[in-house]
Amino acid sequence: MKIGIDKLGFFTPNLYIDMAKLAHARQEDPNKYLIGIGQERMAVIPPTQDVVTMAANAADKILTDDDKKQIDFVIFATESGIDNSKAAAVYLARLLGLSSDIRAIEIKQACYGATAGIQLAKEHVALFPERKVLVIGADIARYGLRTPGEPTQGGGAVAMLIGANPRILMLSKESTYYTQDIMDFWRPLGKTEAMVDGKYSSNIYLEFLERVWDSYQNKTGLALKDFDGLLFHLPYTKLGLKGLRQIIAGADPVLTVRLTQEFENARIFNRIVGNLYTGSLYLSLLSLLHNSERITAGSRIGLFSYGSGAEAEFYSGVLQDTFREGLMKIDYARELNQRREVSITEYEELFNNQLYNVETRKLEYKNDPANFVLTGIEGYQRQYLKK
Ligand code: HMG
Repeated sequence: MKIGIDKLGFFTPNLYIDMAKLAHARQEDPNKYLIGIGQERMAVIPPTQDVVTMAANAADKILTDDDKKQIDFVIFATESGIDNSKAAAVYLARLLGLSSDIRAIEIKQACYGATAGIQLAKEHVALFPERKVLVIGADIARYGLRTPGEPTQGGGAVAMLIGANPRILMLSKESTYYTQDIMDFWRPLGKTEAMVDGKYSSNIYLEFLERVWDSYQNKTGLALKDFDGLLFHLPYTKLGLKGLRQIIAGADPVLTVRLTQEFENARIFNRIVGNLYTGSLYLSLLSLLHNSERITAGSRIGLFSYGSGAEAEFYSGVLQDTFREGLMKIDYARELNQRREVSITEYEELFNNQLYNVETRKLEYKNDPANFVLTGIEGYQRQYLKK
């Protein structure tokens, strides 16, 4: 039985900053951000959006009433959740109007969470082929103003419907994974910004890539030539490029050019959104499918997932001939280009205005054009609205 990603949706708020302007404000050479880090724009998250509203906005774009009836499991992967106890998936299920006869949970392992969600969903569908699982990867990436991590922030949500006979990507059975207790990036309880050993984290990412890629080839017998595209977790797009170069070193020049061209397609959206932590790999999948003219049904795509702390997985899938239908005819390039640029001062104000540990506050939400918004907090309870 074929199991995999049936539909894929994405949402990021309508605000962004220009990275060259951020570089000027921080007395850095713009090329450090544009080339050295590989980021051109960065999503800015207003207080009226959090992981729940962003997930609802992403999922609402792709789900039909029939899909909603078939979903009996919602897996919400996030490392910027809104509650220490209650799963974001429970709020989401209510906002989307899903049945109450479902499981709804939140999972966490840094940027790896959504991949764990997909693999759990695959096993659930293998047991119950008539059912579907909604997997979310939603996050707000925050490091702090004027820190080295600042240009690698961003945010957004990816929603994926996992089912039998998928429209987009049939997942292969085998994958390779690796976990080791490492302090490269973490966020202690009570802190709103991540702590990170940036250079160390980038080195560990590349080391874990080497491990899971080598073991994947040994386990499956597949080799570089069997892949039509390679996707990477993209905390900043230059790191994915380094990962690609590591894998293709010494490969046939024609294959090298082809995989590099597809990588360029796969980073177009990430370059203008930034890091969305657990959703980043899947935004890159969307970017590839949206922007590549060459990728076709039957193409094998490899996916490298990495979450600090640290855990990595390599797996692959084969594109289905209905893959464009699974994107629901949404013009993401247009949506991303229609966002409003904010000044660096406005971005700093929005950054400092995040709702954390707030008992009661009403928010001015009329300027947020999204369908699902956070209107405020009352007695520590988040108030959500579907417009
Ligand atoms: P930094 O120290 O400010 O930057 O921080 P740098 O000095 O290393 O420069 C960055 C690159 O720009 C270098 O290239 C420079 O040479 C180049 P590289 O040596 O890497 O090839 N550069 C220039 N290029 C062109 N023109 C110029 C110029 N100047 C310099 N004029 C760092 C960079 C990424 C470390 C920082 O932003 C950071 O700490 N970010 C957050 C951590 C991060 O993203 N880590 C990635 C791996 S961990 C991960 O992926 C998991 C994560 O997503 C979280 C999770 O799992 O939940 C983060």
